[in-house]
Amino acid sequence: MIKPENRIVSGMRPTGPLHIGHYFGAIRNWVELQKEYECLYFVADWHALTTDYADSRRVKGFVPELVIDWIASGLDPEQCVIYQQSQVKEIAEMTLILGMITPTGWLERNPTYKEVRQESNKDLSTYGFLGYPVLMCTDIIIHRPQWVPVGQDQVPHLELTREIVRRFNSYYGDLFPEPAAKLTETPKLPGLDGRKMSKSYDNSIYLKDPIDEVRPKVMSMLTDTARMRLKDPGNPDNCNLYPYLDLLCGNDVKAEVCDGCTLATRGCGECKKLLVEKIAEFLEPIQARRRELENDPDKVQDILKQGNEKGRESAASTMDKMRKLMNLDF
Ligand code: TRP
Ligand code: SF4
Repeated sequence: MIKPENRIVSGMRPTGPLHIGHYFGAIRNWVELQKEYECLYFVADWHALTTDYADSRRVKGFVPELVIDWIASGLDPEQCVIYQQSQVKEIAEMTLILGMITPTGWLERNPTYKEVRQESNKDLSTYGFLGYPVLMCTDIIIHRPQWVPVGQDQVPHLELTREIVRRFNSYYGDLFPEPAAKLTETPKLPGLDGRKMSKSYDNSIYLKDPIDEVRPKVMSMLTDTARMRLKDPGNPDNCNLYPYLDLLCGNDVKAEVCDGCTLATRGCGECKKLLVEKIAEFLEPIQARRRELENDPDKVQDILKQGNEKGRESAASTMDKMRKLMNLDF
């Protein structure tokens, strides 16, 4: 086992296929991290239940789908551990115990809690949803990592994790290092309509989308809306499509696009055509790996099985220490 300083933990909820916003916002970064750190990445299937409890049927299919999306995107089960949260029962035990020391006020004050609860069309006035950050705290600290790569939106949860850790350590002795968020530069990729890319807005390009489905999606994208005619100069800064070109094109092409746009010599149709080509190039190797895995479901199950064992091993060792410190080692 590598030293704890080098350990990284992160997870994702299995709520549907990954879109390219997930890729550039998180997965690409996970792929880089696996080369330098001991990484554990897990499918947060219990977390999916905090919001989708009334219809739990779909989660089962989404679990292998998420693993396929991950591996197709470059996560390598030889280089990182991939496991399923619910298959590591120690997580449930630790969550129950941490719940005893977590003041309800901390949970009620959590900004994400209030926001999501109000915006959701589901009834989220449940014990499980309020306790989400305790489960997330366990997910992380059960492997005693130093870093947690997450988006800005998860920072309040991570702060709560650190508070729970401090409280635990002060009551029972130093067991857990305080994990820190590893925030990485993530490009802002808007959805097709300019809003945040999200399954619920139906404005996403999925990693598994055949290029024939990507094409009409790109054609429907909003560009610089102030640009009514070709002879109106445009501004890439006000264009929803440009951030994609910015990610996927080299500097020469980008300069050409920007000049053409601001001098009104380039039409948006040309950019759209170029983007379809670039996305096709980008998705091609991902989808080739995906096809291999889809044709070999046993392999996916096998990867999960081995990952689950490693996840359990790491979790069990921390759980042992926790029980000892608390005099729960019967
Ligand atoms: N809460 C995270 C999200 O909604 C998913 C998650 C669950 C997670 N447990 C985690 C992320 C532990 C990092 C570490 O995106
Ligand atoms: Fe966007 Fe290209 Fe149209 Fe300019 S020319 S507004 S960069 S799509």
